[in-house]
Amino acid sequence: MSDTAPRATKAVIPAAGFATRFLPVTKAIPKELLPIVDKPVLQYIVEEAAAAGLEDVTLVTAPGKDAMVDYFDARADLDNALKAKGKDEMLARVKAPESIAEITAIRQGGAKGLGHAVGRAASHVGDEPFAVLLGDEFYEPDLLPRMIDLQAETGGIVLALLEVPREEVVRYGVAAVETTDDEDVVRVTGLVEKPAVDDAPSNLILIGRYVLPGTIFPVIDQTPPGRGDEIQLTDAMDTLRDKGTPVHAVVYRGRRYDTGEPVAYLQTLVELASRRDDLPGFNAWLREFSATLD
Ligand code: G1P
Repeated sequence: MSDTAPRATKAVIPAAGFATRFLPVTKAIPKELLPIVDKPVLQYIVEEAAAAGLEDVTLVTAPGKDAMVDYFDARADLDNALKAKGKDEMLARVKAPESIAEITAIRQGGAKGLGHAVGRAASHVGDEPFAVLLGDEFYEPDLLPRMIDLQAETGGIVLALLEVPREEVVRYGVAAVETTDDEDVVRVTGLVEKPAVDDAPSNLILIGRYVLPGTIFPVIDQTPPGRGDEIQLTDAMDTLRDKGTPVHAVVYRGRRYDTGEPVAYLQTLVELASRRDDLPGFNAWLREFSATLD
């Protein structure tokens, strides 16, 4: 292990998908902008990146999703209207997204898979290590800094894994692992994208946070389409591992805030709403309503 490797300072958020699980609303609204009450999912993700020191954020987008980029821009008409009405607190909340991070947008140019989307950020990221944050899930704030530290120590790939019931592995990338001296860190000895239950090397799934060395980009370029006929990030990472790049993973034991499909989105929305103290009556209603369900 070397302690001279540079630390990741840039984040890439792939956010170019059609979000078919949320059609028809995603015909007009990117799923990354679905609200958690009054704040879009994407803001949670950009805040998570910035809190980990990643203030250079590239959004990989697609036609029809420009609202994601607009969201982080100033809106003079709205600012002026709020100022004129003396709504200073609301004005501060409206302006907050402008200064969380430096946002760059890159078009993916076709739905060719997660690996392809990440590869589109190559010219912006360059040779340095960088983080990938998937645009529809977010995590507790200690995960990403831990991963960035570990990547700076190893110089390799750092993943985050979550233990799930075995039947769920079919929807995710899955890792084969060996233990290390650190009980929260494993060494990854193999990766497979969306295996059948019987072929899965473990019940540890890849969740949507990765810290990768810049050497992943030429490998992505050489990666043929895999599962779903898409260029898979999992396949590119496994090739780099096969060529000798160390791959480690933090085993995450916190809450996964998933918003990628309707039930998970509703759970995230209700849980975070229930924790707010500015939605009077919501929890009392929720308790009463729950009691009416069988
Ligand atoms: C992607 C990755 C998969 C990972 C998952 C996490 O799958 O390809 O390896 O486990 O995100 O959410 P997708 O959800 O795009 O099908």
